[in-house]
Amino acid sequence: MTPVDFREPDEFVNELDSMRAETLQKVRSGQHGRLSFGDPQIPPSERKEVAAILKLLMYPERRVADVLASRIPLISDFDIKERMAAQMFEELTHTGLLRKMLNQWGHDGDVGWNQPLKELVHIFDYIETLETPAEFFSTFLIGEGLFLSTYLDDMQLKDPKAFSPYLEVALADEPGHIQLAKDALARYATTAELQARTRASARRLLDMFLGGYVARIRQLDEELSATGDISAFAESEAQKVS
Ligand SMILES: [Fe+2]
Ligand SMILES: [Fe+2]
Repeated sequence: MTPVDFREPDEFVNELDSMRAETLQKVRSGQHGRLSFGDPQIPPSERKEVAAILKLLMYPERRVADVLASRIPLISDFDIKERMAAQMFEELTHTGLLRKMLNQWGHDGDVGWNQPLKELVHIFDYIETLETPAEFFSTFLIGEGLFLSTYLDDMQLKDPKAFSPYLEVALADEPGHIQLAKDALARYATTAELQARTRASARRLLDMFLGGYVARIRQLDEELSATGDISAFAESEAQKVS
């Protein structure tokens, strides 16, 4: 007999997706701070806000490729393995574009990787400890989904040209990463017990994502204040909740 707390695969994926949507609403409300894009009259290459955002995106883009690389040998389904390898390649392409833009603008393109925020490091360290494919992919559904809708969609809405060419390429690829996470979850979260564990890992990642978001806004705030170039928009919003 099917246990009462077992959900059909599609329903289960929808459940996790609505958890993600709730967190997204909180981020969109601004209660955790907002990204600051600076003065649009200044060319992006000279705008500190734009470079600071690109530097902060570097760690997750690069680390996600490493996390996928170490998990691929543990996945036996060939179609999923192949899609993970494709995602890994795309994440490294995004990383390469970020580095190139920063280096061309006279910044150190590797600073975001060499001096990451500890909150971001902890997210990926946590993902690496997860034992089952279902738990692993739950963190991708949450993490990839929120990354797309909090950072990239915001950049696209406010100032898409400033983040070109990174943004167009990343925006085109990210929906496929979310779809892979959904398909893998539907395939691997096959028992009530696995679904319970997967719900817990998704919940944990939501909390960590919010913590990482607040830390990033705080770092941007500090970095921009240090140069005397802060925009009033990002100012103190993050501090209210930190
Ligand atoms: Fe990416
Ligand atoms: Fe991605």
